[in-house]
Amino acid sequence: MTRKSPLSIAVFVSGTGSNLVSIYNEIQNGYLNAEIALVISNKSTAGGLMFAREKGITAIHISPNQYDDMSTYTEELLNLLKDHQVELVVLAGYLKMIPIAVVQMYKNKIINIHPALLPSFGGKGLYGKRVHQAVLDYGCKVSGATVHIVDEEYDTGGPVIQKCVPVLDDDTVETLASRVLEIEHQILPTAIQLFADGKISIQGRRVVTSRDEP
Ligand code: GRF
Repeated sequence: MTRKSPLSIAVFVSGTGSNLVSIYNEIQNGYLNAEIALVISNKSTAGGLMFAREKGITAIHISPNQYDDMSTYTEELLNLLKDHQVELVVLAGYLKMIPIAVVQMYKNKIINIHPALLPSFGGKGLYGKRVHQAVLDYGCKVSGATVHIVDEEYDTGGPVIQKCVPVLDDDTVETLASRVLEIEHQILPTAIQLFADGKISIQGRRVVTSRDEP
C-alpha cells in the first residue's frame, strides 16, 4: 500500500550537498513522497546547510568535536531525530561515523550513498576523490554508486540500489567523479522512494524491494 503522508527524512551532509539538492528537487517535482524535516552537518560551512537555510529547512550544525564526551553528543543527535519525527536518516556526502546507539535506534532506517560499487573501494578513509583515484589506479573498466543500509561499520551494510558507469581509458578523477555523481543523484532519491512506499524488506544481508519479489 503506497503511503499518503510524506516520509519524514533527515539528511546529513559534510560538503557541497549536491545529493541533498537532488533529493529536494525530486520532492519539489512531485516524484519523491518525502519531506526533509532537517539537515544536519558536522561542518558549519557545509554548502548543504546554506542550501537548507535558503529553502527554509531546519539546518543544524552539530559535531562530535563540540562535545567532551560522545554520550552527550549521541543523546543530542537522538533528541534531534526524535523531535523532528524522523523516519529515515539519509547520509548524503556525510563523512562522520554515526554513533552506534543511533544506528541501533534507527536499525535499517539509515542509508548512505557511496561513490563506488561496494564492497569494492569502500571502508574507512575511502571517500570522495580518493575512491575514484583507487578505481583508476586499479584499472577498473566499470565503477558506479551504491546506496546501502548503514550498520555499525563504514560502508558494510547491505546494498539497497547499485548502478554502474563505464570507466573510460582517458578518464581522470574529475571526469569519473562527475559521471558517478550523476548516478548518485538518480539512485538516492529512488532508494528513498522505495522506503516511502514501504517496498523495502531486510532479509539478512539482502535488501529486498517488493518489485524484486515474485
Ligand atoms: C559524493 O561523491 C558522495 O558519494 C560522497 O560525498 C560526495 C559529495 O556529495 N559520499 P555531495 O555533493 O556533498 O552530496
